[in-house]
Amino acid sequence: MVSDSKSPIESKLIDLAALRQNSVLFAALSDADAWELIQLARQESLPAKHAVFQVGQAGDSLHIVLRGSVKVSLLSEEGKEAILSILGAGEVFGEMSLFDGEPRSATVTTMEPCHFLVLRRQVFLPFLEKRVHVMLELIAEMSKRLRATNDLVGNLSFLNLSARLARILLNLVQQYGKVTPNGIVIGLKLSQEELGHLVGVSRESVNRQVRIWVDSGLIDYDHGTLVVLNSDALFREALAS
Ligand code: CMP
Repeated sequence: MVSDSKSPIESKLIDLAALRQNSVLFAALSDADAWELIQLARQESLPAKHAVFQVGQAGDSLHIVLRGSVKVSLLSEEGKEAILSILGAGEVFGEMSLFDGEPRSATVTTMEPCHFLVLRRQVFLPFLEKRVHVMLELIAEMSKRLRATNDLVGNLSFLNLSARLARILLNLVQQYGKVTPNGIVIGLKLSQEELGHLVGVSRESVNRQVRIWVDSGLIDYDHGTLVVLNSDALFREALAS
């Protein structure tokens, strides 16, 4: 299930150009530095719906998503889930414990089969210390996430369900949207339960809102695949409080 590799031949199977396009970390590295970092990393594959790590666990490594997507979530004692973020190819997670030495701040679970690069603190920190510009890119990325979390908290406190859901769908369109003749397809399967966990409401409440928008032609939703049919109308929903 889990495979490790440090062989130069397998490392070269990594599509560096594609990684550069999605990853702020790799975009900031020269070719030589990028390959050095890949050589320092372990590779790991996990199937869908598998916990990469759980909140509270000790951890001293960060993961870079090469393929697939993961959700970052918190779980209540009764097992209720709040999804803080969905991260896709090129994005980094696990950097918080790597930098501050504290336990994992959230649970990270694969949403589809995933392939990662994994870097341990003892090799990554010396690499970063010699490349301050890369460290600055990582700090900027962490600031972006804090902003997104501020938005999430603000939206939860100040907006009604339809505006919150519309904003989440528009964010997903930005990250995963593919324009097709049939509308903008969000290339990530999401159950109604997961949509509810993203918005902070029950599956039933999110289901009601999805039905209203499907009936009025704003979106289509079929077996976890969301298609935005009328993005202007969705923008208007996102702005209504
Ligand atoms: P770490 O605390 O090591 O393990 C959980 C990871 O989830 C964390 O590092 C971050 O990479 C990520 N994470 C935690 N909180 C958020 C958030 N609010 N938004 C995006 N990613 C997060």
